[in-house]
Amino acid sequence: MLKQYLLSPGPTAVPERVLLRMAHPMIHHRTPQFSAIFAETKRMLEQVIQTKNDALILASSGSGAMEAAVTNLCSPGDTIIYVNGGKFGERWGKIAAKYGVNTVEIKVEWGQAVEISAVEAALDAHPEAKGVFLQASETSTATEHPIREVARLTAARKGCVTVVDAITALGVIDMPMDDWGLDVVISGSQKAFMLPPGLAMIALSDKAWALTESAACPRFYFDLATERKNQQAGKDTTAWTPAVALILGLNEVLKMIFEEGLDNLHARHALLAKATRAAVAALGMKPVSSSPATSATGAFVPDGVDGGAFVKYLRDIMGVTFAGGQDHLKGKIIRIAHLGYYDVFDICIAISAIEIALNRFGHPVEMGRGVAAAQTVLAERFPAQE
Ligand SMILES: Cc1ncc(COP(=O)(O)O)c(C=O)c1O
Repeated sequence: MLKQYLLSPGPTAVPERVLLRMAHPMIHHRTPQFSAIFAETKRMLEQVIQTKNDALILASSGSGAMEAAVTNLCSPGDTIIYVNGGKFGERWGKIAAKYGVNTVEIKVEWGQAVEISAVEAALDAHPEAKGVFLQASETSTATEHPIREVARLTAARKGCVTVVDAITALGVIDMPMDDWGLDVVISGSQKAFMLPPGLAMIALSDKAWALTESAACPRFYFDLATERKNQQAGKDTTAWTPAVALILGLNEVLKMIFEEGLDNLHARHALLAKATRAAVAALGMKPVSSSPATSATGAFVPDGVDGGAFVKYLRDIMGVTFAGGQDHLKGKIIRIAHLGYYDVFDICIAISAIEIALNRFGHPVEMGRGVAAAQTVLAERFPAQE
């Protein structure tokens, strides 16, 4: 037997009580029974997003909601500014180009956060821009961007919004949508929401909803105005057949989140991130990011170690699944996730496995050195006893 641990930044592990809830017999989606669950789920989701507006639930992966943001806010020939600091930032440009939307790219070195001055300069140079599209957490480099500061810049500009891909940030960091003036917030089920892949979530501010009225990009399945009409209170259903089992699961997940409390949820993620960074540093591994994410830690594997083979060995021989690098970071880094159904001892497993693997790859590290560094931080989670 080889026990498996899923420690990747998505999909993440699904808690037992959520799995059990999703295993309940199927219910029909055009029933009062479903609508009651849907309404409760949507309300709780809006509390996590911290918005008074509707949080819409779509049957797709997160990229579906990214596409919906572009098509519902823009017309062909419009211009958007987007931050490209990794695989997911790059995706904004690809989506926009498919719909004939002009793009102004702010290219950011992988592992760095966007400079606010660069966003301001792009906005000044392109007053016609419909918005700034970026990631709260760029998962490919495990890097956080300053979304709050970007939202401050667009707040003063008429018809220009901040669109945040928070797929690995919502439920991880405190990012109150309305307070911070974020205009669009997007998430997905398979990250901090501790569910299998298949749901995307999207919320729009009043300013963003106003843009949807004139946006002429073609759209059918992802027409957010149609979804809002169906999903809003009173109707409490979806325009198309929803992913019923995942919505039941989301209902359970949100109950777990509110049992923990939002502040505790964010504090737990911050602690796990801090412990992982301490462990990686103790092992002498260089961090990928100068603005490290709370959802995952990226670290370079030591010189001479093939990162691809390293991650494969951890997964196939040791049973511990991490993520490697993409594009030019392929074979060079490992990404250790700490979002969703994670607690302190998951970090100990992750670091302990990496220590063993480093030794097996001929890169001697003192066993326990990284784990000890993590434990020192993780101990903060437990109260001292007299
Ligand atoms: C920040 C970010 N954006 C977008 C995506 C794409 O989401 P999906 O794969 O659910 O379509 C991911 C998935 O890893 C992500 O981490």
